[in-house]
Amino acid sequence: MKIRALMLVLLLSVEPVTFAVAQSSREPMSRGGSVPRLGDIMLAKQWRHIKLWFAGRQKNWELAAYELAQMKSSLADAATLYANIPISDVEIMIEPLQSINKAIEAKDSTSFASAFNRLTVACNSCHREMGREFITIQVPAVSPFSDQSFSPSRKQ
Ligand code: HEC
Repeated sequence: MKIRALMLVLLLSVEPVTFAVAQSSREPMSRGGSVPRLGDIMLAKQWRHIKLWFAGRQKNWELAAYELAQMKSSLADAATLYANIPISDVEIMIEPLQSINKAIEAKDSTSFASAFNRLTVACNSCHREMGREFITIQVPAVSPFSDQSFSPSRKQ
């Protein structure tokens, strides 16, 4: 439990500093009640993964920072709500998440792409470790979100 708490502190340190994301939007209405299924947390993570990619590709760094923060929260949720997830599998996400954060701050598309690739490898490595090797994540080719534009709304 101590290590888990430490992990969360580390994950929180991935918080983007350049773009402040309103805290209120990330807090659930209530912490009580039913616990989300791990598969559902993962589905949300899959969306974040896709949105993060297209935000970064289109240099919408503000949106990328927002999606990164969301992804980090859902990982923290998975780690705290599902104590049976080995901490080492959560740990492998830290380096890619931190590198993506740095790339966003530096507005560096090349570093963003390579860190995003490492993140995707880390997703799959946990799936493998947890007997879910049939769930393979890859860098998305097209956005399924036709109702959302990923380009920056103003010049950055
Ligand atoms: C710490 C371990 C771990 C990490 C890291 C992880 N996953 Fe998962 N993921 C799981 C487990 C376990 C399941 C199976 C959940 C279940 O059986 O209910 C899963 C399932 C999924 C699913 C299937 C959900 C569905 O219903 O189709 C998707 C998609 C997914 N993960 C995406 C991702 C993405 C994207 C990342 C990286 C950004 C990621 N996961 C990182 C452990 C992890």
